Amino acid sequence: MSTKEEILIALRESTEFVSGQELSQSLGVSRTAVWKGVQKLKEEGYAIEAVTNRGYRLENMDNRDILNQQELERYWNTKWVGHPLYYKKETGSTNDDIMALSDKGAANGTLVLSSCQHAGKGRRGRTWISPDVGNIYMSILLKPDLTADKAPQTTLVEALSVYEACKDLEHPDTVRFGIKWPNDIVVSVEGGPYRKIVGILTEMRMEETRIRDVTVGTGININMKDIPDEVKDTATSLCLALGHDVTRAPFIARCWEYFERDYEAFLEAGSLAPLKAAYEKGLVNIGREVLVLDPKGQYSGTAEGITDTGELKVLPDGEQGIRNVGNGEISVRGVMGYV
Ligand code: BTN
Repeated sequence: MSTKEEILIALRESTEFVSGQELSQSLGVSRTAVWKGVQKLKEEGYAIEAVTNRGYRLENMDNRDILNQQELERYWNTKWVGHPLYYKKETGSTNDDIMALSDKGAANGTLVLSSCQHAGKGRRGRTWISPDVGNIYMSILLKPDLTADKAPQTTLVEALSVYEACKDLEHPDTVRFGIKWPNDIVVSVEGGPYRKIVGILTEMRMEETRIRDVTVGTGININMKDIPDEVKDTATSLCLALGHDVTRAPFIARCWEYFERDYEAFLEAGSLAPLKAAYEKGLVNIGREVLVLDPKGQYSGTAEGITDTGELKVLPDGEQGIRNVGNGEISVRGVMGYV
């Protein structure tokens, strides 16, 4: 552990001033090293009061959004998700990082988190705009003992978990979160249009007939104040919806706690059956019109829910029977500002 991290721990343990002398003795470093460590912490955003003859004191940090390895570990509370976790201030793409780690033998549950991506990837070959403005970009490595056809369901598990963490922040009368099938999290403020705040990209690699690894990557717009022009009409952030900043570290830790619980339930059942009710509670498409882009001919109908394997159940207009629609062949109209 670095001197800076040791100083932070010592300051956290005390509500009173801790003298430079005391820190230098307990950490076995010079007073200058202590001073330098404090400066580095201040640069990272920690509010440290320094008073001559008294020493240093950390101000209450509960509402300050500082994101680094230590802040994340402080809130971490899972059995296997994020063990290990790697925080990178910036990176290319956390999905690519995970696949590189997997190639080197990384364990199931390994997590990479970053505040900025230079080559963020979205679905259908799109780019995921990933500026360093208080968002999170993160990916997990999963090595499930599943058949390949079941792996895409993992994406719905992650959507549900992040949705549940968002709901913990909800102001019931004004802000409503929802899931847009299959895996976008959206939010509506005071009955306004739903806008996207979370995107999930799952990439699976095979080894002959078995799954080699599944990488689930999630981007959440958290404290972004200016939405990039390209997505202004369709996207927003948690802070813009809620009207206040969100401290990222505890929120992220909660997302992964929920994921660990939900994913274990999914693996045990071998399907989404135990999660279906919770997922459908958040599903904004229910009872709304959808347009199904079936390669054999597009049709419109009403979304009724999901199956145990994550397909959207649609009642086509003018028909009696439900059709189950798989991911990739459907476009949803009528619930988002942009569809
Ligand atoms: C979408 O198009 O809606 C999916 C976006 C997924 C973005 C996340 S950010 C973390 C991870 N790394 C990436 O390069 N992409 C995913």
